[in-house]
Amino acid sequence: MATKKDIPGPKGLPILGVYPQFRRNPLSFLQETASQYGPMSRFNLAGFEFILISDAEDIARVYRQDNDTFGKSKAAKRLTPLLGNGLLLSEGEYWQRQRRLAAPHFHRRELSGIIPIIASMTRDYLNSQAVDGETDELMIPVRHTLADLTLHILSRFFLTGDEHEAPTNIHATVRAVVDQFGERSLKGIVSPLWVPTKKNRWIRKQITTLDQFTNQMIKSVQRKSNPDANLMTKFVHSQDESGQGMTLTQIRDEIMTFMLAGHETTSNAISWTLYLLNRHPDVYQKLCQELTEQLADRPIAFSDLPSLRYLSMVIEESLRLYPPAWANRRTVLKTVEIGGYQLEKGTMVMVSQWATHRSSKYWQDPDRFWPERMQAGLKKERPQFSYFPFGGGKRTCIGSNFAMLEAMTILATIFQSFDLIPNPGLKTSPMAGVTVYPKDEINLKLKRRK
Ligand code: HEM
Repeated sequence: MATKKDIPGPKGLPILGVYPQFRRNPLSFLQETASQYGPMSRFNLAGFEFILISDAEDIARVYRQDNDTFGKSKAAKRLTPLLGNGLLLSEGEYWQRQRRLAAPHFHRRELSGIIPIIASMTRDYLNSQAVDGETDELMIPVRHTLADLTLHILSRFFLTGDEHEAPTNIHATVRAVVDQFGERSLKGIVSPLWVPTKKNRWIRKQITTLDQFTNQMIKSVQRKSNPDANLMTKFVHSQDESGQGMTLTQIRDEIMTFMLAGHETTSNAISWTLYLLNRHPDVYQKLCQELTEQLADRPIAFSDLPSLRYLSMVIEESLRLYPPAWANRRTVLKTVEIGGYQLEKGTMVMVSQWATHRSSKYWQDPDRFWPERMQAGLKKERPQFSYFPFGGGKRTCIGSNFAMLEAMTILATIFQSFDLIPNPGLKTSPMAGVTVYPKDEINLKLKRRK
């Protein structure tokens, strides 16, 4: 059988390999490499060899293998100082136990109660913004606004519940830390955080602030008896089959993971959707028509979701074109055959949402924003892993239902009260950090409906 040495790919420079191209623009590098070299390609990223897997059937095999065939990558482990052994990074039996404890709280039904609260938080947020008294118009910096709103929503549901508000500096700290780790994730070599550089000292200080805050919250929850207020209280009071609960560090790691994995991803997904709606007035009109027909002035409720089909297709199509998680990496733990090649233990593989979601092998006119392609009938014609914004298999995103409900609620609530005044000149480009984010702020003009 062919070995990984037989896999074609760009050669790049001695030692550095393709790192300069990758660093300049990881998204177009991955897209071009997949399109030029086909389903399996191989490249050297600053001394680390990666196999990019781009065929939907092979991607399915990576995600669906038992967890003892593929493990999380060394690159992901760079997040350990921040996320500890939380759900995103933990492995083996410990991961299984934690996932079992958390999963019930993320079932769609379980989340039904969050919709009115998110709708009301969105309305309050919009109402707190300055609307021009004469024109009834409002300018929102979309990325900034959504980052703020989604972080408040997350901390409301997972961290502080009704009674406490996370202090504003915590939100700013979370955002600053995510940016720093985004930068670190793209570097070939990074200094471990214990090396006392100016930046490392700053990052460590931010992590300490977050630690102090979460520990304080956990202790305050431990003093209370009501286990149902939010996810943190449920974790604090949860026990596995053997009656064992979670330690302070374990709860801290899980909460930090939810705050970081659930924040940038969702806020960028909604920002990109608004950006695309501004550029596609026909889609925007169709969406407004659906909202008027299905909801009129009534606030969105859980029971409305199945009838808001177009809204959900718009978000799904936006997640195709701008997938917040743009690549997932894995390390091979025991020799496996993928795409006709034998990959031995230690091989590092990468699947890229960005590259596969824009592949002409699966998508007609792949760069076009066309929500109709997400109709059930057309979905069935494509292989499942031609589209995987939330990953797949056992390690699939636990927050996907939360993210979709949140995006649907926020968008429906905005367009029930405000019209979008299209700005055809508005343009930005995608950048890859921890997530795919817009390079420039997206300033959108809204006009309050009479
Ligand atoms: C549009 C929004 C989101 C996107 C695109 C997204 C994407 C993903 C992807 C691709 C993975 C798999 C990573 C891998 O296989 O290595 C993942 C895992 C995860 N996500 Fe999300 N996510 C989103 C929202 C959320 C939210 C709202 C939360 C929590 C509130 C969350 C929490 C997690 C956690 C804890 C994991 C690790 C699960 C495990 O390994 O068991 N995500 N996410």
